[in-house]
Amino acid sequence: MTRPFFIDTDTASDDAVALVIALRHPDIDVVSIGIVAGNVPLEHGVQNALYVAELCDRSDVPIHAGAAVPLRLPLSTGQYVHGQDGMGDIGLPLTGRLPAPGHAADALIAASHAHAGTLEVVTLGPLTNIAIALEKDPSLVGRVARVVVMGAVADHIGNQNPVAEFNMWVDPHAVDVVLRSGLPLEFVGWDISRTYAVMEPTDAAALRAVGTPVAEMCVDIQKTLIEFCHHHTKLSGFDLPDPIAMAYAINPAIATQTRHLHCEVETESPLTRGMVVMDLLGFTGKEPNALVVTAADRDLFLKMLFEAVR
Ligand code: BDR
Ligand code: CA
Repeated sequence: MTRPFFIDTDTASDDAVALVIALRHPDIDVVSIGIVAGNVPLEHGVQNALYVAELCDRSDVPIHAGAAVPLRLPLSTGQYVHGQDGMGDIGLPLTGRLPAPGHAADALIAASHAHAGTLEVVTLGPLTNIAIALEKDPSLVGRVARVVVMGAVADHIGNQNPVAEFNMWVDPHAVDVVLRSGLPLEFVGWDISRTYAVMEPTDAAALRAVGTPVAEMCVDIQKTLIEFCHHHTKLSGFDLPDPIAMAYAINPAIATQTRHLHCEVETESPLTRGMVVMDLLGFTGKEPNALVVTAADRDLFLKMLFEAVR
């Protein structure tokens, strides 16, 4: 029996690797993919996801365009991180493919009816499409088994401002809708990525040496991310936030420690916009609304990554 996944992504270089892991996993049925603006403008994300699906020989999976802008704020992209095209600007042919008809939020609602009670949602970008779906159909909450969110930081060390992670920062109002919705949320934050999913140059060389077109793409598209990590996040090589979130979604044993926490997001402050405040000491006395991964198994993640590109 395969497990039905709906993936929502602002497809750029690390999202692409996460898609490879899911699309090539024998236990996972990716029923559809929604695209949201974030790392790149919407049309780039659409083309990138279509390209990755084609390379994985999975053009059968419907890919739907979704929100082109956040709920209330103007779009700020991460093209300085992932390249103008989001895929490292290495000259990939990223034009001319056509998405499936219909908005990503409607595709999510449809998937939740087709797989009521069993659908697993994995979000790899800003939460705009999920918030739109919830506003259209709040009963969605009762049909989704779990929602794995790549976002936030349990140690409150940000990659977009001192305390916020990019996906949460781009559309904090959407995060607010999702956190208040009652959806069964599981967060894999950027702290997990920079601690357990860094690909140092030797790791990247080993991955590329697998020698398949998919393996080569997974490394080559990180070209601009490597520069960003060197200058800004001070990591040696590059890190893979969306892939480790996807690996956890597929195999929860990736998490070696989790906590149930109450989470709220800052939407207004220019200093801390997008910060997901996790009540680690229980100050608020409020009921937890999310499971947060606080430690992970790096070896198991690498095993899943290498298996996916073989
Ligand atoms: C997240 O932001 C994007 O740059 C990545 O694709 C990932 O989803 C990490 O903060
Ligand atoms: Ca992403």
